[in-house]
Amino acid sequence: MTFRQARYEEPPIWELGGSPSTSEPEPGIARIPERLRRREPLRWPELGELEVVRHYTRLSQMNFGIDTMPYPLGSCTMKYNPKVSELLARRREAQELHPGQPEETVQGALELLWRLERGLSRVTGFPEVSLQPAAGAHGEYAALRMVQEYFRDKGELERRREVILPDTAHGTNPASAAMAGFVAREIPSKDGCVDLDRLKEAVGERTAALMLTNPNTAGLFESEIVEIQKTVHAAGGLLYYDGANLNAILGVTHPGKMGFDVAHLNLHKTFATPHGGGGPGAGVLAASERLAPYLPVPRVVKTGRRFRLDYDRPKSIGKIKSAYGNFGLDLRAYVFLLSHGEEGLKRISRRAVLNSNYLAKKLRESLPGPFRPLVKHEFLLSGAPLKARGVRTLDLAKRLLDEGVHAPTIYFPSLVEEALMIEFPETESRRELDGFVEAFRRAVTDTPEALKSAPHSLAVARVDELEAARRPMLSWRDLRNAANLEAPVPVPPPS
Ligand SMILES: Cc1ncc(COP(=O)(O)O)c(C=O)c1O
Repeated sequence: MTFRQARYEEPPIWELGGSPSTSEPEPGIARIPERLRRREPLRWPELGELEVVRHYTRLSQMNFGIDTMPYPLGSCTMKYNPKVSELLARRREAQELHPGQPEETVQGALELLWRLERGLSRVTGFPEVSLQPAAGAHGEYAALRMVQEYFRDKGELERRREVILPDTAHGTNPASAAMAGFVAREIPSKDGCVDLDRLKEAVGERTAALMLTNPNTAGLFESEIVEIQKTVHAAGGLLYYDGANLNAILGVTHPGKMGFDVAHLNLHKTFATPHGGGGPGAGVLAASERLAPYLPVPRVVKTGRRFRLDYDRPKSIGKIKSAYGNFGLDLRAYVFLLSHGEEGLKRISRRAVLNSNYLAKKLRESLPGPFRPLVKHEFLLSGAPLKARGVRTLDLAKRLLDEGVHAPTIYFPSLVEEALMIEFPETESRRELDGFVEAFRRAVTDTPEALKSAPHSLAVARVDELEAARRPMLSWRDLRNAANLEAPVPVPPPS
């Protein structure tokens, strides 16, 4: 497919629309306490509907999204978000709910949450689920807080200071461990999986938990998982399951069966709800019997035919999110669960694994792949051979954008030189897979000049990534300040 992204000189909407609206006192302002009032005038751009539609349509044409192009971002499970879930999530009954409403007026919403929890309990093999965390990393942190409280109750908190992680762990795992106050202890892996000997050396009376995702980020199923589980439990530690990779085992096996104690799932990956750009997400928690009392409050409970929020859980780590969680995402995930059913979930993981192996085999004709040939939902390639031509993995990733595919995850995990991590979930067809194989082959064999100057067909080419990370401009105000645009007009005090 020939891919040409639209290029417009499109200013922020604030700069499109004539003069700022008037700073006349707003009706009812007197009822708002002084300290809560807006300090600057409301700068709604004055535009007609067509201008607004054109503005956002133009921006969308300069965008890269799953609705137009494949998004093989390994470790991220970027799959299609079915429109039926979107339609339902946008209904007034869902959108106009307020978290402060009395419980008797939101019985339907509470029932939906309760039913979703029951469904996820079956999917994970754990008896109890909390939908509160707003992202995977949030779920990780909350789970580690539960681990802490568990050891506090056992009188072992002082000595159980370490969280063990394999070097394939996702970056949020050690970050969550450190934020929760643990010492993150990394162990090297062997052939992409946990090295049991190194694990045995590392565990001991200082171990609070092992954080593991299975299959791991190299796309490999930890086949020694039973031995791993026994080793950690024998040392008195707990096992935390990072469920971001659940798409590979959905309906086939689950962390409960593998002997884990607590897990987070990313509804915004496996359960096809939107994600990207930091959220909103849903990193729900599922816990075994011994950790369930520590789950965040409130819990949704059913008494007779009524549903209510229960805050009376003395061992709980407390409230970790406003309201109950991201209801819109929960609703979409529930629709997803219902529309697939138990058999459908199995088909998802089988298809995702099939896609991944098909692609891995074809792409290894272009670049080498480390570890064993058979993978789960994602796989790694190494761009190391390109270095001889002065080309880096980053250049290849940029060139793939010209081919109309989003770049795969690159340089992660670090144990593979010039790594590319590729995941084509079940929602991608054979035609898309074959198209990607061809695009990949073309990109790999392209001239170093073309690769190093890519992308050529995007609205924005290479940006200064260091600068973007260090000094991100995340609002139109940053842009305005950077361009020395006009400062906001001071607001007259409201009368
Ligand atoms: C394996 C794994 N764990 C954890 C996370 C963190 O999830 P989130 O981005 O929702 O915080 C990710 C996200 O990419 C992941 O791939």
